[in-house]
Amino acid sequence: VSESTVPLVVAIDGPAGSGKSTVARLVAERVGLPHLDTGAMYRSAALACLRRGVDPADSSASVELIRALTITVDGAMVTLDGEDVSTAIRTPDVDVAVGPVASNPEVRAELVAQQRRWAAERGGAVMEGRDIASVVFPDAPVKVYLTASEEERARRRSEQLGGEIGSVAAEIARRDHVDSTRAADPLRVADGSIVLDTTGLSIDDVVTRIAAMVDGARSRAQATAASVRTADDASPAADWPGSTAPRLTGVDLVGSGVVGRSLYRALWVVAQAANRGWFRARYHHSDRIPKTGGFLLAPVHRSNADFLLVGNVTRRRMRYVGKETIWNVKWFVPIANALGGIKVDRGTADRASMKRCLEVLEAGEPLVLFPEGTRKSGPIVEEIFEGAVYMAVKAGVPIVPVGIGGSGDAMPHGAKLPKRIPIDVVIGHPMTIAAGEKSSSRRAQRELSVRVREEIQRCFDEATRLSDARRRGEA
Ligand code: DC
Repeated sequence: VSESTVPLVVAIDGPAGSGKSTVARLVAERVGLPHLDTGAMYRSAALACLRRGVDPADSSASVELIRALTITVDGAMVTLDGEDVSTAIRTPDVDVAVGPVASNPEVRAELVAQQRRWAAERGGAVMEGRDIASVVFPDAPVKVYLTASEEERARRRSEQLGGEIGSVAAEIARRDHVDSTRAADPLRVADGSIVLDTTGLSIDDVVTRIAAMVDGARSRAQATAASVRTADDASPAADWPGSTAPRLTGVDLVGSGVVGRSLYRALWVVAQAANRGWFRARYHHSDRIPKTGGFLLAPVHRSNADFLLVGNVTRRRMRYVGKETIWNVKWFVPIANALGGIKVDRGTADRASMKRCLEVLEAGEPLVLFPEGTRKSGPIVEEIFEGAVYMAVKAGVPIVPVGIGGSGDAMPHGAKLPKRIPIDVVIGHPMTIAAGEKSSSRRAQRELSVRVREEIQRCFDEATRLSDARRRGEA
């Protein structure tokens, strides 16, 4: 079976100062792909025009000149007809000349063709520019549009290159305008690009996030290749590689009787009082929770308060998958049991407990499982327990992604009492295997797992934005 001929292109577009260059270079290192700064090619073309006295506005003269040039880009090293121009292309003169040169459709066609060859010859690349996802590689498996507030971009540029912040901001605004209003392939968010606002995110967060997308794209490509080689067949989650998240071990499912149900109801009301009164929790899109039948609720997990918070997404009684340490706290055991808790034992694969989860779902009851495995910190959802997807698919129930914004700050690790920070809970659309796919197909399950992770991240981002906005409104 031949390898896929589609190059793994990671397209990173965005305005000046959005952090593209730094991020693209680090992503390339992290995922082991070559890096191409396409802006350096437009800059080299502009430099050639300046040197030869060709007016960049003279379209035919500049195209003729540029077709005859040899531009190479290798990391930060840029050459023009063999001469190292790595620093010469970063002067203010070039900043000004590059706009008209890059507005010339024939110049663009020539450089775009070179960029496509560059990536194809190397079997893939991390490419940064303005039109990578919209024009150069519209089918790139990973497409990111990086941006940041204008102030933040000006601050970064002036730190990087020096210069007074006011004039740097003006120059950035001028170039944004030229880049996004030109007729030929203007800067814009391409269809299917993920917009990443990097204001307030660390470089490492952004790099980690994009690297996770690359991992997802790679495993999708692998799964596709595998499905060509072998007939699709069901595979038990315990055999699935690549997950460090806990596996489940069984405990008797108790709490179905009157006592359990009443205790759940009582706790639900207490939780609602705490969530509304203390956190002023708001639930967005609660109508997306299925009214009947089983589902697997998959929330992000940043705080011990998350159990209480997700309980109120629906009045329906849900069962929880919990860490074994919860069962070490003696007084809490009856409560955990009343909640219909299913114990997770880290590191042991026990199909009996998976069976318990399946029984719950197949009985048409909702199950809460934090698919990151344990409480994590930071803004990124890095990896999810693929067994969760396997179980939902096997039981024929949807997965409902949930983002909780603010809980990590309200109750960070080690905190005894929660701070009074507004919490927003965003519920995503219920997700199942793509239409037309066999539910037993391992590839389809992998693909669903990747989408679920992305969707939890999206809900988490939105919830965090909403919670932050309310906090700012209070400050
Ligand atoms: O990323 P940069 O600032 O080095 O880019 C320099 C200029 O090149 C920018 O003002 C717009 C142009 N450019 C473009 O039009 N298309 C690209 N793919 C990359 C850069």
